[in-house]
Amino acid sequence: MKIFITRKIVDTGIELLREQGYQVEIWDKDFPMPYDLLLEKAKTVDGLICMLSDNIDKHLLDSCPDLKVISNYAVGFNNIDINHATSQKLPIGNTPDVLTDATADLALTLLLTVSRKIIPSYNSIAMGEWKTWEPLGFLGPSLAKKTIGIVGMGRIGYAFASKCHLAFDMDVIYTSRTPKKQAEENLNAQKVDFNTLLKRSDFISVHTGLTNETANLFNADAFKQMKESAIFINTGRGGIHDEPALIEALERKEIWGAGLDVTNPEPMDKNSKLLSMPNVVITPHIGSATHEARSEMSIICAQNIIAGINKKTLPGFVNPNCY
Ligand code: DGY
Repeated sequence: MKIFITRKIVDTGIELLREQGYQVEIWDKDFPMPYDLLLEKAKTVDGLICMLSDNIDKHLLDSCPDLKVISNYAVGFNNIDINHATSQKLPIGNTPDVLTDATADLALTLLLTVSRKIIPSYNSIAMGEWKTWEPLGFLGPSLAKKTIGIVGMGRIGYAFASKCHLAFDMDVIYTSRTPKKQAEENLNAQKVDFNTLLKRSDFISVHTGLTNETANLFNADAFKQMKESAIFINTGRGGIHDEPALIEALERKEIWGAGLDVTNPEPMDKNSKLLSMPNVVITPHIGSATHEARSEMSIICAQNIIAGINKKTLPGFVNPNCY
């Protein structure tokens, strides 16, 4: 069985596949594989491990009738046409659980970094601008006892909300299609509608997938409803916020700050106004970038491939209804 991996990844999963006798080939460049090359390669293999930056669309799926399983090296899967894969009875895997803490930790890092003005503080020292202790310098909001609004109380939303509640005694409110018992019982979280979340939250953090429903959910109207002191955090997908509307909301001081691990597009234009705003922190989609998470992601991808080829249940199964 031939498996193709579209980028170099931590080798734990590769070893597992090779131990099981799979033939593994890897795109060894430090940039995403061009679509046409990926298409040609995918036609020749039984299993594919792809990245969130690969576009696995209807055309690619139709062109690869011999492909038996695909695993995304990510928990999100908006880069794959899941409905079409399901109609073709093609199992799609992802990497849930193993990156939950890493991503929740990053959301908290962004919130703390924005609120405590870490980047402008550091820059003032590095540029030789900081001369003495400043009684009114670098002031930002404290986190203690504030209200955190969680958009999408899944695994990562819950992990982040727990950290906010347990470490900072924050009140937790959330939006979700269904009530989340664990969050309500353990964190005293309250389910609210989206507009209430916008108005009541001191900080808002996005932890939902990118779908037709969530695309541009944070638009000009949403930012206008938020508190002027609010901080917006997005570690989900860049398509969930309207970036020009976010820039305008920050310029007009409709919100106080933003921390983004995901942008729209990725990579962000290096001339984006967001990069020169003092109350904004941007990171390059590093939510899952810990040694531990990336190693576990590699293993779960390999397990997904092995399960899919054997027509078994994938440990991270996006479309269990495909069989
Ligand atoms: C994922 O895996 O989908 C996340 O974006 C990691 O940051």
